[in-house]
Amino acid sequence: MSTIEILPAQLGEYYQAMTKEHGSPLLVLDRNKVRSRYRELCEALPNVELYYAMKSQCEPAFLEVLIAEGAGIDIATNGEIAILQQLEHRPKQLIHTHPFKKDADIRAALDFDCNTFVVDCVEELDKFAAYADKVELLLRVSCQNSAAKIDLSKKFGCHEASVASVLDEARRRGLTVKGLSFHVGSQCGSADMHVDAIALCARFFSSHPYLTCLDIGGGFPAPYDKTVVNLLDFCAPIRAALQQLDSRIRIIAEPGRCLSAPCFYSVATIMGVAAAEKAQWYFLDDGVYGSFSGAFYSGNRYPLQVFSDAAPESNAVLAGPTCDSVDVIYEDVMLPKLAINDVVVGPCMGAYTTVTASEFNAIAKPKLLIRDGHIEAVKQLQARS
Ligand SMILES: Cc1ncc(COP(=O)(O)O)c(C=O)c1O
Repeated sequence: MSTIEILPAQLGEYYQAMTKEHGSPLLVLDRNKVRSRYRELCEALPNVELYYAMKSQCEPAFLEVLIAEGAGIDIATNGEIAILQQLEHRPKQLIHTHPFKKDADIRAALDFDCNTFVVDCVEELDKFAAYADKVELLLRVSCQNSAAKIDLSKKFGCHEASVASVLDEARRRGLTVKGLSFHVGSQCGSADMHVDAIALCARFFSSHPYLTCLDIGGGFPAPYDKTVVNLLDFCAPIRAALQQLDSRIRIIAEPGRCLSAPCFYSVATIMGVAAAEKAQWYFLDDGVYGSFSGAFYSGNRYPLQVFSDAAPESNAVLAGPTCDSVDVIYEDVMLPKLAINDVVVGPCMGAYTTVTASEFNAIAKPKLLIRDGHIEAVKQLQARS
């Protein structure tokens, strides 16, 4: 199914003016949206401390807003620490969630006042021997999830049958395990897996009363299309499940995609058209080696907008700018006739887009443009046109 919306040509002119002034392709950040989206998630998950997973989008201007809102940050690499070091304000709280680390990673995190780390096996415990008095650990429990767009338990997580033995081993080594964590996978279709994982962890909280923290990971959905439920409704079963837990347990989460995706719009420009036998080809200046890289690793079908007052008339292909033939964003879509310099907009393009993009063919990643109020302005323009 195509998720390409055809919107009035007048709205396209607004974006064309933007590319005329700032170039193309662009990634437009609306900081008002960052605030409102963060508050929406806080409301959906009351009493849960949020650590934004900066792997999904690490743009400093975006991080600054979340940090000002009070978000903690989930880091996974030294590179992410280096980005945070450049910011004007430091996050109040940090958590390092990569289950596998080098000694230099642990030291860099500790030097940056992050002392909570995630492990998922006995072998990883050895690395903390020298820092036993400084670190607190969370044991990541595995939860396979075929319903998530991306199932991360294939790679990480301690099987439930081994949880007790890893906890015992940590204690024997004088390490503090303060709680459990899980990550049910990205862009979940429902909260069922979160609920099951909370129930699984609850059993270990009963049998190991010294555990006092539960990290419910990420996986909260970005609003890519109208079938995605809003955060308040999505999280309702999670709120109910958390209420069953002992009140001594502190709850934290590592949301990524749901916060970053809707705060950034991508704007690409058609730089070439070709009428082929079976389809009309449109060549954009951004593609799957750029902002649309999720098409490669998770088969993402990004919602897009094109602008025309005419009706759809031909089967079209939207292709990216590189010389690789896999660089195709959409095939088999009915579109109105578009022209060189027309724009193609992605309204939910903040998560796993520019961070996973490459610069293949030496094509630079999109330029960041900060436009507070952009989303509201577009809504008003759309209502008028
Ligand atoms: C450990 C961990 N936490 C949080 C996230 C963020 O997940 P999402 O973007 O689905 O919220 C990820 C994503 O890969 C992750 O690996």
